[in-house]
Amino acid sequence: MFSRAAVRSLTASRAFSTSSRRETKVAVLGAGGGIGQPLSLLLKSDPLVSSLSLYDIRGAPGVAADVSHVDTASEVKGYAADQLDAALEGAKVVVIPAGVPRKPGMTRDDLFNTNASIVRDLAAAVGRAAPDACILIISNPVNSTVPIVAETLKKAGVYDPRKVFGVTTLDVVRAAKFVGEITDKNPTDTVITVVGGHSGPTIVPILSQTANAKGVSGEVYSKVVHRIQYGGDEVVKAKDGAGSATLSMAYAGAKFANSVLRGLNGEKGVVTPTFVKSPLFEDKGVEYFSSNVELGPNGVEKIHPIGQLTAEEEKLLEACIPELKKNIEKGKAFVSQA
Ligand code: NAI
Repeated sequence: MFSRAAVRSLTASRAFSTSSRRETKVAVLGAGGGIGQPLSLLLKSDPLVSSLSLYDIRGAPGVAADVSHVDTASEVKGYAADQLDAALEGAKVVVIPAGVPRKPGMTRDDLFNTNASIVRDLAAAVGRAAPDACILIISNPVNSTVPIVAETLKKAGVYDPRKVFGVTTLDVVRAAKFVGEITDKNPTDTVITVVGGHSGPTIVPILSQTANAKGVSGEVYSKVVHRIQYGGDEVVKAKDGAGSATLSMAYAGAKFANSVLRGLNGEKGVVTPTFVKSPLFEDKGVEYFSSNVELGPNGVEKIHPIGQLTAEEEKLLEACIPELKKNIEKGKAFVSQA
């Protein structure tokens, strides 16, 4: 699960004295849920996490008691509904999978009414109790919840655009797996940059920039692009009303958190797609965009341009931009009208 670089960084950190080792507290808000539970377990096994703080309005102390028996060095503590600020105190990374998931027939935007206020209130708490933390937002619709977090932090006067991330890693994970399947390659050798946002037409996979994927064309290409954009629906349908992706999302969330932690620890060259405040399409009124981002000691270190696209990819991008703009504006309006 952890890259060779992560293991190397662990080995290196063990060579230092305990006092020079970076202590990193990670908080999970929504830790009792379908994503929150396996995500907490995976974070417990990440050597870069020294302390794990699990919060939910229901059930977090139980999850914490369970996960705390795993034989890794980190400490785990669970917090009840009225202990949010205590859960956040000292956290360097806050992961948010709190909120309702989709049922069959729903789009991510259908979740807006419920999740917008949950995410806003949690962001306000982070602004109060852990204003320097990197915030990793999993709760959907990500295209709107990221601007909601940013606007809430702005209101509190503690917004740092380098530290607010929408987690789009599941799209990257799916792209590698689905394209690996059709090209008969190992997904780890089929890493595909996915840009744009995190919902249907805003998900833009760039197959042309990956050696093992650029030969995919015609109907096979159209089908796999559609599968990457709507892969979440396969899971929602198969779960038949019991929710959306939880296990693959927990895997993707832990993978992204590990990248952020490696960046915070000063590791160089940690680059992955994530949905952040971005200059790339600001001229088109799109303030937030996912592209390859280099992570560093302060969060976002450098936003990479999307590079050369094929005509088909340009078309995908054209479809993405207006939808993304709408989703972002909806998130911003929610906070400004409150
Ligand atoms: P779930 O319903 O199983 O768990 C959500 C948890 O959030 C519950 O334990 C609930 O008690 C908790 N919660 C609700 N309000 C809260 C609050 N104010 N503070 C703290 N905790 C609170 O849902 P699941 O399946 O874990 O999904 C969570 C979110 O993640 C959904 O919005 C879903 O759409 C999203 N998601 C995002 C993906 C991505 O790629 N970014 C992929 C899959 C799901």
